[in-house]
Amino acid sequence: MTSTYLDSRGHNHSGHNHGGHDHGGGDAEGSYGGAARHPLTTKQGWACFAAQSGHPTPPRLLPAEDFDRLDGLERELYNEIRQDYHSALLLVATPDIKRIITTGSKLIINNRGKQLGRRGLLISGASGTGKSTSITQLGKKFQIETERRTPGVDGRIPVVYIVCPAEANPKMLATEMATFLGLPVAERDSPQSVAHTVAAVMRRVGTSLVLVDEIHRLFLSGRRGRDASDQLKYFFDTISATFVYAGLDLAETGMFAGVRGRQIAGRFIPVNTGPFTHRAADAQRDWAKLVATMEQALRLHHHKPGTLVKMAPYLHARAGGMIGSLDQLVHEAANDAITDGTEKITKAHLDAVILDLAAINQYDPDPGPGHGRHHRRDGAGPNSAGGS
Ligand SMILES: Nc1ncnc2c1ncn2[C@@H]1O[C@H](COP(=O)(O)OP(=O)(O)O)[C@@H](O)[C@H]1O
Ligand SMILES: [Mg+2]
Repeated sequence: MTSTYLDSRGHNHSGHNHGGHDHGGGDAEGSYGGAARHPLTTKQGWACFAAQSGHPTPPRLLPAEDFDRLDGLERELYNEIRQDYHSALLLVATPDIKRIITTGSKLIINNRGKQLGRRGLLISGASGTGKSTSITQLGKKFQIETERRTPGVDGRIPVVYIVCPAEANPKMLATEMATFLGLPVAERDSPQSVAHTVAAVMRRVGTSLVLVDEIHRLFLSGRRGRDASDQLKYFFDTISATFVYAGLDLAETGMFAGVRGRQIAGRFIPVNTGPFTHRAADAQRDWAKLVATMEQALRLHHHKPGTLVKMAPYLHARAGGMIGSLDQLVHEAANDAITDGTEKITKAHLDAVILDLAAINQYDPDPGPGHGRHHRRDGAGPNSAGGS
């Protein structure tokens, strides 16, 4: 199997999280206005994520005799450790994430020290296709490399990560950046002064990579949308960093329309993320590889390796080819198999997992011949072999 784990999930570094899939949670430091912030959108949260070691250590499986001998409390603890491990992100080097990290890393090198002629990266794709995972891993890799190249520089902030607020105006956008950097913003501050301070501070702390997630929220029609994208353009022009934008199906949200759209189109390299397909033989192989990688990592006492790979077509149908839905399906089933003591994943476990609405809506339990539903034609998806 050539799929490999890259790294660990950054989102739940504090305590247990059996769900393991909430991206929004976390009442991180730096919360303002009472709203819960995404844990990575402050310099402290980000630094924590970047400092986390690569692979979470897989817990050791006890020999059968020892497992049988565990008393109530011991068993509870032992099970909890395995369930936490299943809920943590076991990052898989999918074709999409590999492409984003390679392209992004090259851009960062080419942009270094340039004020003019810098180019950015624009990641576009459906929800749950790994956009946020990919750009945060790119940021983490860059931050680790920066530390390694020039260690021990105080107060440096190589990477800034923000999530666009819904219906953002210029001040909200600038405030997101200020909040990441730990700069106070007062009610009376003008958007220009906040933006100016942010740009000055980013230059001073050596920010070289700016990640802007959920960017489709900015590209609204009308005045507000125009103003917010002008604000973003101001940052792009004044901060000599590599900018990475990620958002939902950006071509369709009018991101490239109009004068502003053309400016973005000319400066950003587009990369699309998408669901895995399951028609062509090599697409099926890619999907089976992904399933196998997840299956190999399971810490269950009676699970026979290969069981899940045999169910790969069913898993594809359930998850609609979405890596996030597959991850949830397999790891929830595994944790249920621990809780009920069967210690192996059965079809019943998988059937019982309730996935997100999108996955539920696309699933056809009884596809007639030629009536299978597909997100896109084979070959069109970046995750299918021969894709764009
Ligand atoms: N490379 C990967 N390896 C393993 N799991 C992944 C990977 N990329 C995404 N996932 C899974 O998919 C879920 C959704 O990914 P996310 O990056 O949030 O998608 P998006 O930002 O496109 O909506 C993640 O929580 C994770 O479980
Ligand atoms: Mg996302």
